[in-house]
Amino acid sequence: MNFHLHSPPTQALAALARSDCDTAVLFMGNEALGKEPAKAKAPARSPLLKLAMQLAGQGDFEAGAGKLVSVPAAPGVVAQRLLLAHVGDGTPAQVRKAAVAVAGSLKGNTHAKRISLAAASGFDGPQLRAAILGLAEGSYVYSSTKSKPKGRHLVSVEVIADNVDALQADLDWAVACMRGIELAKEWGNRPANHATPVHLAQAARALGKTPKTTCEVLGPKQIAKLKMGSFLAVAQGSRNEPRFIVLKYQGAPASVAPHVLVGKGITFDTGGISLKPAAEMDEMKFDMCGAASVLGVFEALSVLKPAINVVGLIPTCENMPGGDALKPGDVVTSMAGQTIEVLNTDAEGRLILCDALTYAERFKPQSVVDIATLTGACVVALGHVRTGMYASNDELAAQLTRAGDAAQDPCWRMPLDDEYAEGLKTHFADVANVAGRAGGSITAAKFLQRFAAKYDWAHLDIAGTAWKSGAAKGSTGRPVGLLLQYLTDQT
Ligand code: BES
Ligand code: MN
Ligand code: ZN
Repeated sequence: MNFHLHSPPTQALAALARSDCDTAVLFMGNEALGKEPAKAKAPARSPLLKLAMQLAGQGDFEAGAGKLVSVPAAPGVVAQRLLLAHVGDGTPAQVRKAAVAVAGSLKGNTHAKRISLAAASGFDGPQLRAAILGLAEGSYVYSSTKSKPKGRHLVSVEVIADNVDALQADLDWAVACMRGIELAKEWGNRPANHATPVHLAQAARALGKTPKTTCEVLGPKQIAKLKMGSFLAVAQGSRNEPRFIVLKYQGAPASVAPHVLVGKGITFDTGGISLKPAAEMDEMKFDMCGAASVLGVFEALSVLKPAINVVGLIPTCENMPGGDALKPGDVVTSMAGQTIEVLNTDAEGRLILCDALTYAERFKPQSVVDIATLTGACVVALGHVRTGMYASNDELAAQLTRAGDAAQDPCWRMPLDDEYAEGLKTHFADVANVAGRAGGSITAAKFLQRFAAKYDWAHLDIAGTAWKSGAAKGSTGRPVGLLLQYLTDQT
């Protein structure tokens, strides 16, 4: 999908009416509809606004973000249809809602390939970003395992505004972010037989060919040589070999310390010998969404080319039961040398992440953020709205919170009091991989923290936010937006 900005010599709304596109989309809020009388007069001179006010007056165009009215062959409009979209109070969140609704209403319409978009009160940067990401979200179609792929019909979006110079950087950011989100969604959505560790490594290798990016993939022998005994223990039950993926984006001189992202890449989580119940087990194909978000961020970085250095680490394998599988009670030795008693083979995410966190030390990083669909308990705690965020450093926590809010991909800081680690004590190893049921997302974070003592570290538990269940089943691409915002804020 292509986005471009157009700065007309005349008023944006006049240019929208004259645009030779399939659908002319007009965003408007209460202000333009005259609900806030002080500002209603001047813009009301535009014929499009008059039409909107007339439709509002007769009850055909309701107030509220995402409320739409489609006007075929609207008077004075060149496009086949005029789509009026209400943006509520005009906050980025409401603009996004309107954009999702617009794209959703055109979805599947083969006569709506090219749209032009203007806003009655113009766009500021955050509104433009929200509009672009909303249009992308609402028009997204998964197709890679369909025999007759339908694909996305919306191919081109022209944004008409009179302040294009001020908006170009926001457009570039949003387009890069969209590309990252869509790559993350693509890999998240692919079924596990089409998204094995080898497939993920191929995707990473392809990213390694993009600007400023390199990729290295380690197989079982090299992983063993690194003494990643915990990661390998999870992988040993599957016939699909594990891979350890190392992506590097270099936008700054090599002397600048990198930020490291670590993504959980369990391509399917059966639970292993601690087998999960059958209901909704298919959703455990999404257990590599942390890894997919790292791939997505690298895609976005290669498009945006910010002046920072970033390393992406992806330990990826399947968690399967079988004759070779890890058993409850087994003790494994991590790369850090710490021994771990595996009381529950379904707490496998932390077992692969701990070795990647140890590997991250060699980069002497400015920060390390791991991203993982780690615990069902996080879904209980925060639902599907905010990602659980843990941080060993207050400044890092503040940066991630701000980035999440700015990108509309929010997180919420959770506690790391040492008392939460009590339950991880065991007689048989340095640490156990599970504690009791209480505070399950927090005890998982406490486990990881033992392996992340040598740098500023944060952990994002995306179990509730990485995908949607039910009728809307599918990857969300989160938290690519949060991560890209965090990284580009570092420049
Ligand atoms: N991948 C799951 C976490 C998960 C479960 C995410 C359901 C989203 C929905 C993870 O590997 C897991 O199985 N965690 C266990 C940990 C438990 C055994 C301590 C869980 O949350 O039940
Ligand atoms: Mn599990
Ligand atoms: Zn898992």
